[in-house]
Amino acid sequence: MTLLINPERFKQDFDSLAQIGSTGTGGVDRPALSPANIEARKWFLARAFESGLETRVDSAGNHSAVLQSSNPDARTLLLGSHTDSVPMGGRFDGALGLVAALEAVRTVKDAGLSLPVHLEVIDFTDEEGTLVGILGSQAVAGTLSAESLKSPRGGRAKLEEGMARAGLTDDGFLSAKRAPNTLAGYLELHIEQGPRLARSAIKIGVVSGIVGINSFRLRYHGKANHAGTTPMDARTDASLGASAFVLTAREMVARDFPNCVVNVGQMTFKPGAFNIIPGLAELSLEFRSPDPQQLNALEASLLGLANVVGRQWGLILEVERVGHCDPAPMSERAQAAIAAAAESLALTHTTLHSGAGHDAQSLAAITDAGMIFVPSRDGISHSPLEFTEWDDCVNGANVLLRAALKVAES
Ligand code: GLV
Ligand code: MN
Ligand code: MN
Repeated sequence: MTLLINPERFKQDFDSLAQIGSTGTGGVDRPALSPANIEARKWFLARAFESGLETRVDSAGNHSAVLQSSNPDARTLLLGSHTDSVPMGGRFDGALGLVAALEAVRTVKDAGLSLPVHLEVIDFTDEEGTLVGILGSQAVAGTLSAESLKSPRGGRAKLEEGMARAGLTDDGFLSAKRAPNTLAGYLELHIEQGPRLARSAIKIGVVSGIVGINSFRLRYHGKANHAGTTPMDARTDASLGASAFVLTAREMVARDFPNCVVNVGQMTFKPGAFNIIPGLAELSLEFRSPDPQQLNALEASLLGLANVVGRQWGLILEVERVGHCDPAPMSERAQAAIAAAAESLALTHTTLHSGAGHDAQSLAAITDAGMIFVPSRDGISHSPLEFTEWDDCVNGANVLLRAALKVAES
């Protein structure tokens, strides 16, 4: 049977979801467990219920819509993404994959297909890391540590606020693990968020793997002092170490670490006044690599550099590890199903790795996980300017549908 999704229904739902937490400039502001995120999740369950799907929320707050197989002992094929966004983010990141999954499952239901698996559309909690990052999917995979709940990257107070709003608990997060033998796989459609597909005019990306991501808080301790009376050669200025580190780290990664990236996304000086030499500089450091050995080497080089720079400027360096996530290869079986699905629709495709983190990297630890990318205009993402042509979204949703049918039957 040649199944295709309903593009009008898909568009209507995509546009409705984009209204929730709209920035008014084309984007959405729906940080994890914010009132807007909670409203988006309610909208998703309501749409699923209206479509005759069974709805569920697990103890990690993951929201699901299920189309049951006639075999009650069947395994479950998960199709998912997320409704949370980065602050002032785009309307496609996460939302596209979730609405496409909902549309794909409705298409199967409307066609009256009987599949040997349950199909479950899942909206994972806090993919973006406003609180912890890939929180709901790590909970499902059983890889979430109690430590990452105790000192999350967004701060414990913010996490507790979100948990109270959504009625979630630490114990709930730590007991949401699903048994691998109950799962038939995980597929996710997502925008590429980079320029490779758009530049090469290729329609579909078959994701080979997702980068590993490590993050640290670095603190340079200098000496706060009077900015006007302290001679230039007598300052122990923490901002100088921080600035030198950012510039040199960039050069080092560009020169010595192909396929890797480094980012210092926040830098705070304390006490923080026009007329005080910074006594403390705090940096949020994150770096990524698709290869585990290279990620380790990159970490050693960056921390070595942070040390050397600190000594050069007479500062004391304090290093706090915040997050660690290994690179995750996608399953060969899922990649083959996605490539075959693209071919069945006469869509050009290429294999590429993901430079962004995704829930699929958590799921890869417990089941066959695969991702489909569609082009991002100018490679822009995590911005209200994020955009994907609607035809490309429809192509992606059809590839998701057909890849899901292939995985379900295999
Ligand atoms: C999530 O989008 C990430 O890659 O940080
Ligand atoms: Mn995303
Ligand atoms: Mn994102």
